[in-house]
Amino acid sequence: MTDEDMPALRRLDDWAFGVTSSDRRWEVGTAPLERDRQLGAFVGAELAGHAAALTMDLTVPGRSVPAAGITWAMVSPGHRRRGVLSALMDRQLADLRDGGEPVAVLWASESGIYPRFGYGLGSRRLSARVARTHAAMRPGPSGLPTLALGDPADMLEECGRVYAAVRGSVPGMLTRSAAAWRESSHDDPDRRGGGSALRCALAVSASGEPLGFAWFGTEIGWSTGSPEGSVEVREIVADSPAATRALLNHLLDVDLTSHCVMENLPLDHPLLTWLADPRRARPVVEDGLWVRLVRVDEALAARSYAAPVDVVIDLTDDRCPWNAGRWRLAADHSGCEVARTGDPADLALDVRDLAGGYLGDDHIDRAVVAGLLEEYTPGAARALARSIRGDRAPWCSFVF
Ligand SMILES: CC(C)(COP(=O)(O)OP(=O)(O)OC[C@H]1O[C@@H](n2cnc3c(N)ncnc32)[C@H](O)[C@@H]1OP(=O)(O)O)[C@@H](O)C(=O)NCCC(=O)NCCS
Repeated sequence: MTDEDMPALRRLDDWAFGVTSSDRRWEVGTAPLERDRQLGAFVGAELAGHAAALTMDLTVPGRSVPAAGITWAMVSPGHRRRGVLSALMDRQLADLRDGGEPVAVLWASESGIYPRFGYGLGSRRLSARVARTHAAMRPGPSGLPTLALGDPADMLEECGRVYAAVRGSVPGMLTRSAAAWRESSHDDPDRRGGGSALRCALAVSASGEPLGFAWFGTEIGWSTGSPEGSVEVREIVADSPAATRALLNHLLDVDLTSHCVMENLPLDHPLLTWLADPRRARPVVEDGLWVRLVRVDEALAARSYAAPVDVVIDLTDDRCPWNAGRWRLAADHSGCEVARTGDPADLALDVRDLAGGYLGDDHIDRAVVAGLLEEYTPGAARALARSIRGDRAPWCSFVF
């Protein structure tokens, strides 16, 4: 894709996602795109489909690995269900195989789209709706930081420092370019739906160090005669329980609101542990980051393992046949080796399920329970599950 194709992409985007972008939204939204990593699918002279890759680093258990952040995938309504997305995905995977990142990640607009392309569910997110009348929490950490309130655009540097401190310890977190920060904090007046501007609460230590941030907006309603507004949290990241608690104390108790909605928390977030009546928060678990192991040996060798394991995996991968077949994964605390082998397999599984466990979620355990793994050596599946599981719930704090 070139700069000349961008007006056509704007038309395609408006039609594919059913939106009309303001000039500002378009400018901020497209700024993170890398022209030489944008793929256009043309039918004659018409741009019928598009998909892009962003250059990122992904935190995995113990390390980080270069990852392609797949985004802006779309097909014109006039060309749907004729294989355009499939062609884009196949081309993208082939390009990545030939010298790109060993792993690709994405957020899906619908959870049914990407498994057919070998993406597995690498992280899940928790959403909650906490009523102010049921926001009582058990005593938590002491020495809470103070909060500074302001405009996210003026606090990006401090938010970036918090994010950098958290990123290395939470698998699923990604590096973010300056353009990506501006994009994820952009406050489009046309999309506020009657709500306030986006705001930032920054948790700050006594020495002035930023420890956590929350971006949120409020929507105030009076339809019952009493104030019944909501606090809508876009992103919340903190590097200690005290900072998390200070931010929640504010978000769950904003004047003239009756509830607070948080749609992207990690599964191990302390909210439900602190709430006195957690069921009232209506917790729901949904898909988070989808992961594609593009070059499975490099991807597996790029992370650490929680327990020693030595298994031969017979891998199915219909979309990327270069990954299919038998691999020996031998790992302990000192390192990991992944190599082709002719030895008999201990277990067989699909690349989607290996990808589901890649960031350390307990997907392999769930795949065993679901009968998605075939075990030839008793205990091999449990050994793999124990070893691949991480000590933090994988999570990506922002959607790209
Ligand atoms: C999702 C989208 C990109 C699919 O494009 P497409 O060119 O119609 O997809 P294809 O024809 O290559 O379809 C490939 C397969 O995926 C399936 N599929 C497509 N969209 C799907 C969806 N939303 N949910 C589940 N399956 C879907 C197709 O049925 C097809 O299955 P088959 O191979 O068994 O026949 C397109 O519908 C679109 O632009 N949607 C709106 C924007 C969007 O959601 N983009 C994705 C952002 S993450």
